[in-house]
Amino acid sequence: MPEQVFIFDTTLRDGEQSPGCSMNLEEKLEIARQLDRLGVDILEAGFPIASQGDFDAVQAVAAEVRRPIIAALARAHPQDIERAGEALRAAARARIHTFLATSDIHLKYKLRKTREEILKQISESVGHAKSLCSDVEFSPEDAGRTDRAYLIECCQAAVEAGATVLNLPDTVGYCLEFEYEQMFADVKARIRTSDRVTLSTHTHDDLGLAVANTLAGIRGGARQVECTINGIGERAGNAALEEIVMALRVRSDVLPGFTAIRTEELYPSSQLLARVTGVTVQRNKAVVGLNAFAHEAGIHQDGVLKNAITYEIMQPQTVGMPSNHIVLGKHSGRHALAKRYEELGYQLSKAELDQAYQSFCKLADRKKQVYDEDLLAVISESFAKAPETFGLKLFQSVAASEGCSTATVELVKDNQVYHDSATGDGPCDAAFRAIDRITGIPGAVQDLSVHTIGQGTLGVAEVSIRARFEGREFTGKWTSQNVVEAAARAYLEAANRAHHELKRVAEAAAAASKSVHANPMVDRMVPGGY
Ligand code: KIV
Ligand code: ZN
Repeated sequence: MPEQVFIFDTTLRDGEQSPGCSMNLEEKLEIARQLDRLGVDILEAGFPIASQGDFDAVQAVAAEVRRPIIAALARAHPQDIERAGEALRAAARARIHTFLATSDIHLKYKLRKTREEILKQISESVGHAKSLCSDVEFSPEDAGRTDRAYLIECCQAAVEAGATVLNLPDTVGYCLEFEYEQMFADVKARIRTSDRVTLSTHTHDDLGLAVANTLAGIRGGARQVECTINGIGERAGNAALEEIVMALRVRSDVLPGFTAIRTEELYPSSQLLARVTGVTVQRNKAVVGLNAFAHEAGIHQDGVLKNAITYEIMQPQTVGMPSNHIVLGKHSGRHALAKRYEELGYQLSKAELDQAYQSFCKLADRKKQVYDEDLLAVISESFAKAPETFGLKLFQSVAASEGCSTATVELVKDNQVYHDSATGDGPCDAAFRAIDRITGIPGAVQDLSVHTIGQGTLGVAEVSIRARFEGREFTGKWTSQNVVEAAARAYLEAANRAHHELKRVAEAAAAASKSVHANPMVDRMVPGGY
């Protein structure tokens, strides 16, 4: 019988400790409200003794967020525990989370204490916390590298002093799955009255195993998991909440637990955290990355087109990703289809729409709902390819350490050569502006990423660009040993796509109205430069 796995979110404590992720009080409150909407069971709001800011944040979260248990971290020291208790005073449901390292490495080099001293400190500090709060969690820090027999003694001491939750952290992200699972099985089997405490996982991602280890911990008997949104946290991070939740949901056939998380709030939570911290989510991040549900390979599109189950183990809307997805069904008409294509950035001519509609109807007959990927697959073969309108013949740029950089470009179109120069904030910007002067459609770069292929200065740069032309976005990608040239060519590719698409739209409109309008871009083009 599956049991509930309680989600202990530590985004505002362990997550906030990671470089670049610090938040002010208002930001922490905003995240806390979202974690409440998400449905986390326990929300660790901070480490009150660490700073006045942390204390204030825990106090404010405890006063405002009433549904989840609010936890505060404390070292196994009287002042820490007092401070945590004080910060939690207004909480509807409070938990003091106290921790003390138990591995020989930490005892010898960090704490310089004997095992006996540590055992005594555990009993005293858990007892102290219990006198302030009925719900007490104890973490034997570095449990993953602690001698097993001694770990069990420490856990027993904590339980006898009143701990309600035993959290076994793999503090340094060292454990392998089978080891982490076994640790839980051992503690569960050997702690007297273990049925009165909840076992909890806390994993770090130094070897990329945080989520896998969390699931292993659940298999070993854990019923609480500690995790953070987007997996932010010390060093390589903590286990990512969204990945654990979706793994439990998607693989409920073999995993023994379920959560009370409202999964549609996963993507909004991820986005909010990224916005607040400025730490963006990698595109291919599992569950919440922008590419997590994008099917680009033709074989995948084809598979998804035939049946989404071929390449989709979960649906974007389940995690709250705005779609992109389901909008149309077999009752949708030609107009709805044209409109959806428009929203996707395609203005189809009448002939193109006729063709697309035929394919759509066949598809809608087979499938209940038609996804954006399906629509894009329908047209990708025929309309998406843009011919190279302008070719780059020559390119020169001068980068200045101060002031403006300059670039000169020579483009060819229909055997005509056009050249122009421009200045800009850096050599890439100067090149883009020079290209704009020739093509006549100025673009605004929305996103530019450089990926180096190969090693050191011998590597080549792959530049990907997303730019907005006349209100619509187009992409381009190019690889070259010269990063500025790669950027210029990637930008030109996006401009060519824009040129082709805008021209097609203008022609379609002209045919429709039977009146001839000159393409504004062609009018603005000046052979031989200005
Ligand atoms: O990683 C760790 O051991 C911790 C404890 C304080 C629980 O974050
Ligand atoms: Zn940690």
